[in-house]
Amino acid sequence: MTMSFLQVRRWLLAAMLASASGAHAAPDRPQFVVTSAETLSSSSLRHLPSDNATDSLGTALKLLELNAAQQHLLTEHVHHQEGRCGGYFAFDSRREAEDFLANGRALQAMLATAGMAYNIDNQGTVEPWLLQVTEANIRATIAHLSSYQNRYYASPHGATAANWIANTWLALGGGRSDVQVELFTECSNCSTQPSVILTVQGAALPDEVIVVGAHLDSIRSGAGSEPEQFAPGADDDASGIAVITEVIRIALANGWRPQRTIKFMGYAAEEMGLRGSRAIAQNFAAIGIDVVGVLQLDMTNYRSGVSHHFHFISDRVNGPLLAFSKTLFDAYLVPRGFVHRDISCGYACSDHASWTENGFPSVMASEPGSPSNSFYPGLHTASDTLAGVGGTADASIPFAYFGLAFIGELAKTSSGTFLDGFEATTLRE
Ligand code: BES
Ligand code: ZN
Repeated sequence: MTMSFLQVRRWLLAAMLASASGAHAAPDRPQFVVTSAETLSSSSLRHLPSDNATDSLGTALKLLELNAAQQHLLTEHVHHQEGRCGGYFAFDSRREAEDFLANGRALQAMLATAGMAYNIDNQGTVEPWLLQVTEANIRATIAHLSSYQNRYYASPHGATAANWIANTWLALGGGRSDVQVELFTECSNCSTQPSVILTVQGAALPDEVIVVGAHLDSIRSGAGSEPEQFAPGADDDASGIAVITEVIRIALANGWRPQRTIKFMGYAAEEMGLRGSRAIAQNFAAIGIDVVGVLQLDMTNYRSGVSHHFHFISDRVNGPLLAFSKTLFDAYLVPRGFVHRDISCGYACSDHASWTENGFPSVMASEPGSPSNSFYPGLHTASDTLAGVGGTADASIPFAYFGLAFIGELAKTSSGTFLDGFEATTLRE
């Protein structure tokens, strides 16, 4: 059987997901790890017992059993010594690892691609962007979106709010021919609410897609399907849409041309069970769109009385992409005094799970909350207002920094800024 590159990639992503995501791997159970002999021999784990294997292209590999601390060491080694992420794959049983090894050619491709996109070398683009993040812009978007009676998926207000987001994003595109905004309506159970997608076409690698998303709908617990329910949804998740809007503004105001295609998404009907994002992720999987990294931002604006600023969700996300995200945080946010922690939802709590379910690598970030609650307790109530979360968008600033770092380092920068009517040089790798 021959697999196309895309099929190999999809298979690899599925394998990465099954093996490396926190959703499957119990943190303290030993794992059966496959890595290259070269990686192992240069690490401090080289003296552990291991089995030799070779893939069909002749690459020397090692299979060994590692506890959680040893796996952590290997991750650190790959990050710091080899300057990349991924680099090994972990399985719950030896049998699964051996099955994986049997697919030698695909494994070779996997080891090559694991390090492909995940490196940090675009500070020249990202650092100047971070200086431009403006709290007042984020606050204004939250204020506007929470001024609707609701953004409920089956209410006219929910469709009006989606259209406002589409028009706002379109205006930020400034008429550039490589920027498009669409309403995604191929969702059978999203009622009248579209999802909104702004695409910046990649200049060098247009078939590789980065997604940054947040849900645009809101809901009030106990209101049933009442179309006039009062559900301001300032934190959940006007804040995520507002952060994305600021990220789009800055990237495009600077004339950025990404190498890879980037899609910013406002999802419909998340509160009804991830409906909008599931429809998109299923559609992308069906038509073979090669999504190489997804960031979900859900609830970014509540921080009170805690020393950290940022949560990475640890379940239903992709292990290597999460590891890379932490490296990004270390590179761009730690020097600015920001601190992150891990937290698990324990269930499919937001749209990142739709991408994970469909075999795409995703991560999810959310606010730190307060000492007694890891997120704003007013979610899904009439108190989810801007005033309720403190009246400023200060807490969202690190999420805008992270969003900018994520797109700058995953989509990279093509040579030349975009000038309409003038075709800037296109880089091919
Ligand atoms: N924003 C919440 C999820 C969330 C809660 C993220 C706390 C971070 C911290 C999301 O909109 C939501 O309400 N999700 C539902 C599940 C969904 C599948 C309907 C939930 O958590 O109950
Ligand atoms: Zn939410």
